[in-house]
Amino acid sequence: MKDIYAVILAAGAGTRMKSDRAKVIHELCGKPMINWVIDAVKAAGIDNIIVVTGHQEERVRACITENVEFVSQPEQLGTGHAVMQAKPLLQGKKGTCLILCGDTPLITSRTIKQIIHEHTENKRAMTVLTTICEDPEGYGRIVRDDSGNVTGIVEHRDATLEQLRIKEINTGIFCFETEWLLESLENLSNQNNQNEYYLTDAVSFIVKNGGRAGATALGCTDETAGINDRVQLAWAQKILNRRIIEEHMRNGVTFLDPDSCIVEYGVEIGRDTVIYPLTILEGNTKIGRDCVIGPNSKITDSITGDNVTVLNSVVIESSIGDKTKVGPFAYLRLGSCIGRNVKIGDFVEVKKSVIGDHTKVSHLTYIGDAEIGKNVNIGCGVVVVNYDGQKKHKTIVGDNSFVGCNVNLVSPVEVKANSFIAAGSTITEEVPEYSLAIARSRQTIIHDWVIRKGRLREQKPEE
Ligand code: UD1
Ligand code: CA
Repeated sequence: MKDIYAVILAAGAGTRMKSDRAKVIHELCGKPMINWVIDAVKAAGIDNIIVVTGHQEERVRACITENVEFVSQPEQLGTGHAVMQAKPLLQGKKGTCLILCGDTPLITSRTIKQIIHEHTENKRAMTVLTTICEDPEGYGRIVRDDSGNVTGIVEHRDATLEQLRIKEINTGIFCFETEWLLESLENLSNQNNQNEYYLTDAVSFIVKNGGRAGATALGCTDETAGINDRVQLAWAQKILNRRIIEEHMRNGVTFLDPDSCIVEYGVEIGRDTVIYPLTILEGNTKIGRDCVIGPNSKITDSITGDNVTVLNSVVIESSIGDKTKVGPFAYLRLGSCIGRNVKIGDFVEVKKSVIGDHTKVSHLTYIGDAEIGKNVNIGCGVVVVNYDGQKKHKTIVGDNSFVGCNVNLVSPVEVKANSFIAAGSTITEEVPEYSLAIARSRQTIIHDWVIRKGRLREQKPEE
């Protein structure tokens, strides 16, 4: 939509969040609040977006990678004053200006299109998006005349007792014909309870000066709720999370208990994958097809192939190949690259390591800074001793090797392909191909030692 501009107000501090961070950069499902609004506007087909920033301007702007224009409102003197800052960018523009608040992350492109459509169809100078609110506390109220025409908006704090009974409220989303908007902004005053320049006063100005004003009334909806504190933030996060999960379900992903899972914005999940309860998928994560994830798993910034199982495990910044099974109780982190058909069993931690196809690391193992080849068996309790107290070193285990239980691989060390390492060995030197390495002291037997030393343990009588 070429001749439509959107102005998003995001200069306020959001004091009710009680936060060191500006309200609009608090995240919901992995995406800052303001970006939810920007994305909804973009999805409605509007590319000319102006964002008004003020409080923590640099931090707020840094969150926005979309192509938008910024204007500053160094002092927050009200919503009307905020829009005024966009004047240099709007001056001389014909057409419609959409105004939204940066604290309404639930707004959808469908509703944005609806208000623009009604505004344009009815050839109005101004349209406000309203809704009926059973508990309108804090919101601006829509004032209508006897014939039902919108005549103005009165803020909660400026309302008379009679006006406070009005349940139709201002959602904070408007369409203005740009010329009307600029003219009415010139005429705002701050003679009100908060000594602010209210954007809402533009409505009565337009009506008094012969412009057509109207309202698009939404049915009962959560979409336009402004998020002002942490309670509302949690409530909105739940709704967005549910929306994200429902989209995955519609695309062929099974969630056994969707409400117990958290799936962040942008996560991809392949068809026929089943997600068990209490699973968190976040960041830049991509799950393949036919996987089984969870219960109780957290996968962050990671990629899995198809037919992967992740049970009761934590995976961070790693990749997992097709048909690999992870868990229960495994921890894959920081640049681990696990091949296809691998088994990473219980209580195994892998850090910054490559593990080749068909390799098994079945239990109780630490692998750090290592390159483990294909078809290797890592026995129970193997530890890669990658840290000498000062530096991290690398271990390499070649293809088809067998590392017995409770082996220490003291890095830097290389175990060549096709070799065996006896259980309990501490390997500090290279193991050549096709060899067996035993690095432990031999077993000694002292016959009848127990009897000679009088150390026979008495059997306890049965109780
Ligand atoms: C505003 C409306 C109210 C409406 C409600 C809907 C006005 C005067 N009031 O009230 O009618 O029912 O939204 O949620 O418009 N902002 C700036 N600069 C400022 C002031 C605010 O950028 O100087 C931004 C804030 O960052 C926020 C948005 O405008 O994103 C709304 O401001 P807020 O203070 O939350 O307005 P409300 O009191 O909720
Ligand atoms: Ca608000």
